[in-house]
Amino acid sequence: MAGTDAAKAAAAVDPARQWDRLMAMAALGGFTDAEGHQGVNRACLTPLDREARRLLLSWAVPLGLQPSVDALGNLFLRHEGTEPGAAPVLTGSHMDTQPNGGRFDGIWGVVAALEAVQALRSAGHRTRRPIEIVAWTNEEGGRFAPGCMGSMAYAGHRPADAWDVTLDPDGISFGDELREHLAAEADLPRRPLGVAGQAPHAYLEAHIEQGPRLEAEGRDIGIVTGIQGSRWFVVELAGESAHAGTAPLSLRRDAVQDMVRAVAALGRLMDDPTDVLRFTVGRIEVSPNTSNSVADRVRFTVDFRHPSKQVLLAKGDAIEATVHEAVRDCGVTVTERFHALPVEFDRMVTGAVERAAAAEGLTGLRMPSGAFHDAQFMVPICPTGMLFVPCRRGVSHNPAEHSEPEQLAHGARVLARVLLELAAG
Ligand code: GLV
Ligand code: MN
Ligand code: MN
Repeated sequence: MAGTDAAKAAAAVDPARQWDRLMAMAALGGFTDAEGHQGVNRACLTPLDREARRLLLSWAVPLGLQPSVDALGNLFLRHEGTEPGAAPVLTGSHMDTQPNGGRFDGIWGVVAALEAVQALRSAGHRTRRPIEIVAWTNEEGGRFAPGCMGSMAYAGHRPADAWDVTLDPDGISFGDELREHLAAEADLPRRPLGVAGQAPHAYLEAHIEQGPRLEAEGRDIGIVTGIQGSRWFVVELAGESAHAGTAPLSLRRDAVQDMVRAVAALGRLMDDPTDVLRFTVGRIEVSPNTSNSVADRVRFTVDFRHPSKQVLLAKGDAIEATVHEAVRDCGVTVTERFHALPVEFDRMVTGAVERAAAAEGLTGLRMPSGAFHDAQFMVPICPTGMLFVPCRRGVSHNPAEHSEPEQLAHGARVLARVLLELAAG
């Protein structure tokens, strides 16, 4: 009977509806790049972000889902259970994108959650536990760094005001933008931030893989076993500006030359013959940023990831000293602004994903996540897991990011089955 119920729910997933919703979301912040790929630039807490949230509400509210927003702007849509007091099953992801982002990262997890819940409801299921769909605020960290602010605050990992004075590249503070955002959504019911005395029964996040394994190995569903650890740093170098034609090299305090020394030294620190470690310098700001002046200031980011806690701590802790030793002429400041330890997901959730994939006749692959996700911060508060679908050549954080409608439909069907199982438990 349970098997038949789950099959009915999965069969009620509508691939065309899910795809059309994704494409409607992709139009909000959509652009076409030089190669003709359809990218999306929808930063958190912007009017575009609010437009996307209103669009989501325009689909969810007529279905009977109850919206609410917390103090970080995390948006929830509640499907009521037959036992409204039971701990809810939480599922979702994020709606913000990288500045040069694709159409699927994050938003698919939210649209898939809606698709799965809509399928359950249209198949006539009344689940014992409530199911709450969540769209977390600022997962990407592309506008305000770091990412995962909404989920970190929800999980009590950081206080709600931790990023009030964090600035975006235009000097606008997170706190000010959040206040404006909450004011614009004052018509939506407010809910207390966090678990408010009742942790979710489980959290499940659906996401595109953002890596090449599923496609390369011809598998349909990633059964995500955990997430590697990440640490983010900002390095600031303070030198002195000078005339490029007259200042002798021996007298310069050139911040760009010291940056080159620092990045090369970090590259040596991060050298990993096993190719497991991930090390990225992805943002460099140079001042005054003109070709005929010596740079007086450089600010660059370090994104460092590893599945082993020991390596993450040892190499991450060595970053500051490595930069100090490498730099010759400039003052140095190294600030850590994100620290997420590796996590392992719960067998209750990974097992449910594995069973659901098999029941759909899909091939699964147990795999860790190299990308971080809001799910990382749910691990301490409730049984947590994720499911992945393949994306073309593993490309993500790029307008070329692509998954086929049928691959996404597989994911939504598995999600519907797992939600049904968890909401009955
Ligand atoms: C998430 O966007 C990440 O950078 O892993
Ligand atoms: Mn994402
Ligand atoms: Mn992302």
